[in-house]
Amino acid sequence: METPRHSPETTDTRPLARVGDSMVCPICGSGLDVGAERIRCASCERVFPSENGIPQLFWQNDWPPEKPDVTEIIKSFYEQTPFPNYDEMDSANSLREKATRGVFARLLDEQIPFGSRVLEVGCGTGQLSNFLGITWGRTILAADGCMNSLKLAEGFRKANQIKHVSFLQMNLFRPVFRAESFDFVICNGVLHHTSDPRLGFQTIARLVRPGGVILIGLYNKYSRLATDLVRLALRVSGDRLRFLDPRLRDRQADKLRQHTWYMDRFKNPHESKHSIAEVQGWFEASGFEFLNSIPKATGEKFAADEKLFEPHPKGSRLDHFSVQMGELLAGGRDGGLFVMIGRKAGPGRGA
Ligand SMILES: C[S@@+](CC[C@H](N)C(=O)[O-])C[C@H]1O[C@@H](n2cnc3c(N)ncnc32)[C@H](O)[C@@H]1O
Repeated sequence: METPRHSPETTDTRPLARVGDSMVCPICGSGLDVGAERIRCASCERVFPSENGIPQLFWQNDWPPEKPDVTEIIKSFYEQTPFPNYDEMDSANSLREKATRGVFARLLDEQIPFGSRVLEVGCGTGQLSNFLGITWGRTILAADGCMNSLKLAEGFRKANQIKHVSFLQMNLFRPVFRAESFDFVICNGVLHHTSDPRLGFQTIARLVRPGGVILIGLYNKYSRLATDLVRLALRVSGDRLRFLDPRLRDRQADKLRQHTWYMDRFKNPHESKHSIAEVQGWFEASGFEFLNSIPKATGEKFAADEKLFEPHPKGSRLDHFSVQMGELLAGGRDGGLFVMIGRKAGPGRGA
């Protein structure tokens, strides 16, 4: 067992207080005074309010006017339809049950070492972070741009007394943490809803410490085509062909969750698509070694006890083509989402 980076005595303190020294102002980049009641920039003196216990540190992009920017459009879309939302009956136990049924969350929970500092970027309504934050000995920070999603996340956390996660509002292009602050950065299903996914990746990749790990989930160029076809069929049929999507034809499904799913999958104002080779290129350019992916880049079967953080072959172009086509032919599982995992080069201890 590795030496914990954070002593057990500190685990009663909320994660936000524990990472206060690593926080920076999203406007001027100087250190922040992180108090229990308010957060203030020591340099530009801006005070950041909190609502429902969620620090509001979102700041808009300062891109040139000619650069497309969907941040505000996406933010207001998710303010109206926080994703993925909770069922009325959800509890810490049901969250644990659902999460352990899905391979990604279960393997993360099993393999993120004791004492790790984790940042989830674009946490939505916080299912993954709340699940990971149930376990003692981790510091989980979970950020999103959308306050209504964060309020649901924080409401669930409070109701279920989950201690090891803190939620905050942040624009991923203007992070509020110093470079190299985290052992793990997780960003699943988010960057493809921005105008510049590669810049988004480069920005959050800086937050990973040397030897730390990044996990990026994106829509795939090939397997997302299955969703595109259903979207087209819904559009031309005026939504009469809803039965084409298994979630939409499920009569037992919670109506709010079903609507949220429909909006996110078929009515999203902006999404882009990516490939295994493309993200491997991003990794290389930012000094990350490719470790593994879901599905696997070589087309090998993904094992129930797959080692997420050990290096695996990158696969050839032909492997990638057949893996991605295979996912399309299998109906574009998970809406064509694929997850890429990489480790930042450097002298730090392995995650
Ligand atoms: C499809 S949801 C994914 C939520 C969660 N990761 C999941 O897998 O269930 C995309 C999330 O990305 C967030 N997001 C998009 N652009 C963002 C930005 N620039 N900064 C912070 N969050 C952003 C949205 O608010 C939304 O909650």
